[in-house]
Amino acid sequence: MNQTILSITASVLFLFSITSIPAYATESGPERKRKSAVQRHLDICMSCHWVGALDAPRFGSKKEWAPRIAKGIETLYEHAIHGFNSMPPKGTCEVCSEEDVKELVDYIVKKSQ
Ligand code: HEC
Repeated sequence: MNQTILSITASVLFLFSITSIPAYATESGPERKRKSAVQRHLDICMSCHWVGALDAPRFGSKKEWAPRIAKGIETLYEHAIHGFNSMPPKGTCEVCSEEDVKELVDYIVKKSQ
């Protein structure tokens, strides 16, 4: 009788210890995903490209983006990073890296063709 209770207690303890290991492991090492430039800075681009301020090609407008896209993506990167007429360098996003700006251009172009 005593032995049965002992072995049940032992298996419960054993089960508890193995099931609690994975829970501990995920709690202690959560990978915080880096937010993409699109998530962090798209609102800056949208302040002009949503409404078409200063004649900016509007986000999602195939018609307005087609002639831009026709210039080639490298030209669009170049103009977005260094500025082009009323398009300010990096679209005024001072904290954006060149890679961030390219990611934003890719996103806007993808959604506008
Ligand atoms: C202050 C308003 C403003 C903001 C903010 C802005 N843009 Fe622009 N953008 C413009 C205007 C205006 C043009 C059109 C320039 C022209 O064709 O004369 C333009 C054009 C562009 C073009 C096309 C360039 C070409 O060669 O035709 C790209 C790509 C672009 N913007 C990307 C961005 C990105 C990415 C952001 C955010 C980081 C951004 N813009 C933020 C005003 C803005």
